[in-house]
Amino acid sequence: AVNEREAAIAGMDWDALQSAVSGCTSCNLCKTRTKTVFGVGDRKARWMFIGEGPGRNEDQQGMPFVGPAGKLLDNMMVAMGLKRGENTYIANIVKCRPTDSNKRDRPPEAEESGTCMPYLQRQIALIRPTVIVALGKTAALSLLQLDPSTPVSRLRGKVYRHGDIPLIVTYHPAYLLRNLPDKSKAWADLCLAMQAYEGTS
Ligand code: URA
Repeated sequence: AVNEREAAIAGMDWDALQSAVSGCTSCNLCKTRTKTVFGVGDRKARWMFIGEGPGRNEDQQGMPFVGPAGKLLDNMMVAMGLKRGENTYIANIVKCRPTDSNKRDRPPEAEESGTCMPYLQRQIALIRPTVIVALGKTAALSLLQLDPSTPVSRLRGKVYRHGDIPLIVTYHPAYLLRNLPDKSKAWADLCLAMQAYEGTS
């Protein structure tokens, strides 16, 4: 039944995928969500940015990266000559907000990420971006299927592949807001991503 679900998702068009996500009850996160957060942007985008999962603001609005971290992500994209919604697509590993027992944001658990992953895989397959930027550890480790103990600092600075798509790992914008000096390292990562982009086009 698990593989049937994955096969069904892998065959969906964009509209079917969107409605499958909005009605999804495949993990417990559906019980506490306000809205699902499918993603935002251009369905033919060459650039795809992938975060962790909705926080409080995103859960309320049904849109990814609408809080302070989103503002920084917008600024990062502008620094690259990009703009939200134009040639960019922003999505998350999980489509529903994970919360702890105090109703605070938490990272998704491996099982939640794994259950949600077929949706993101289908989004990637339908968009076929030229480059993927993984924002933070959760996105990087889920997309690259690496050992969860690997720190982001060791994933940066390298061009990975997701299938045949170049994937660059950088710090999550929410992390950068707490660690401003690391912004210069994030900029180096984005420059590497721009190089990978130019190398493929
Ligand atoms: N952090 C994320 O990883 N994703 C969002 O959509 C918002 C904050």
